[in-house]
Amino acid sequence: MADVDTSASVGTVVSAELDGLPVTVVRHEGGWVAVDDECTHAACPFGADGEVFDGYVLACNCHGSEFDLRTGEVLLGPAERALTVRPLAVLEGRLVVADVDATERP
Ligand code: FES
Repeated sequence: MADVDTSASVGTVVSAELDGLPVTVVRHEGGWVAVDDECTHAACPFGADGEVFDGYVLACNCHGSEFDLRTGEVLLGPAERALTVRPLAVLEGRLVVADVDATERP
């Protein structure tokens, strides 16, 4: 995982790589997740056009779609397809794909 400041505040949205693939890393109220790097509506990049509000909602500022960062579910269209969401954890100061046995919560 690319270096991300793990002390960053809720609402942080940054572009990164996970397993060699581009993702968007987001801090929501419950922790960190990696989601698709592009909106499922028309592929706007969340790294540039994404914004978090209400603790768990990722909005795409291109056309206004909204997604639940806990599940990937579409909350508001025009997007119709859910995001892929991978929970992350902080391990020794770095973000890693969540492993229930070896994590510390931010
Ligand atoms: S590309 Fe995200 S809402 Fe259209």
